[in-house]
Amino acid sequence: METNIFISEKVKLAALLEEDLEKIPAWYNDTEFAHLFDALPAAPKTKSQLDKWYESFSDSNSQYLFAIKTVNTNEFIGYIEVSDILWNHRVGWLAIAIGEKNQRGNGYGYESLKQALNFAFYELNLHRVQLTVFSYNKPAIALYKKLGFQQEGIYREFIHRNGETHDMLLFGLLKREWESRTENNEK
Ligand SMILES: CC(C)(COP(=O)(O)OP(=O)(O)OC[C@H]1O[C@@H](n2cnc3c(N)ncnc32)[C@H](O)[C@@H]1OP(=O)(O)O)[C@@H](O)C(=O)NCCC(=O)NCCS
Repeated sequence: METNIFISEKVKLAALLEEDLEKIPAWYNDTEFAHLFDALPAAPKTKSQLDKWYESFSDSNSQYLFAIKTVNTNEFIGYIEVSDILWNHRVGWLAIAIGEKNQRGNGYGYESLKQALNFAFYELNLHRVQLTVFSYNKPAIALYKKLGFQQEGIYREFIHRNGETHDMLLFGLLKREWESRTENNEK
């Protein structure tokens, strides 16, 4: 029987519902989260900003949004975007946030990114997926390396925060690299 790529042991990727949006402002009100996830100034997200972001996915074929929900309790804990797809080059960007702080470190990020990569490479047939991460975000860097992403570049001194300067790193993963891992039962 065919495997459902949107569900694994602990988490599932599902549609992000309007009611889920209500949880997101609290995540952005935490400057630590905002500084890990976003290069924009940490600032509260207004309802109209969130609505615009949400609606941008509704009639676009160049970006996809998934809610990350726990299998056991159906709790909305974060989201994944596959965005800015360039179909002629078969390239897309990936972003992940486990917004619920107390749900980090449970393996949800790893499982849900595997699902998103299976979606990107086997459903969208992308050739390459890329993302950027700030040099101080050690958990995210370890996660991407664990999934086989390679560091390909450094945007030197890109981030200025709390009086300090930090690099932003570019990571990429090719379909054939993902295939060679999934052939070895990593799927
Ligand atoms: C980064 C993030 C997605 C990781 O998700 P998670 O569910 O907490 O991570 P997991 O429990 O699935 O851990 C998977 C791997 O990530 C790495 N990792 C996770 N937490 C870590 C930590 N505190 N320190 C070091 N490595 C960590 C490890 O490699 C881990 O594998 P291991 O358990 O075999 O060591 C999550 O912490 C998050 O959303 N943080 C806030 C937003 C953010 O930083 N987004 C990414 C922006 S680039």
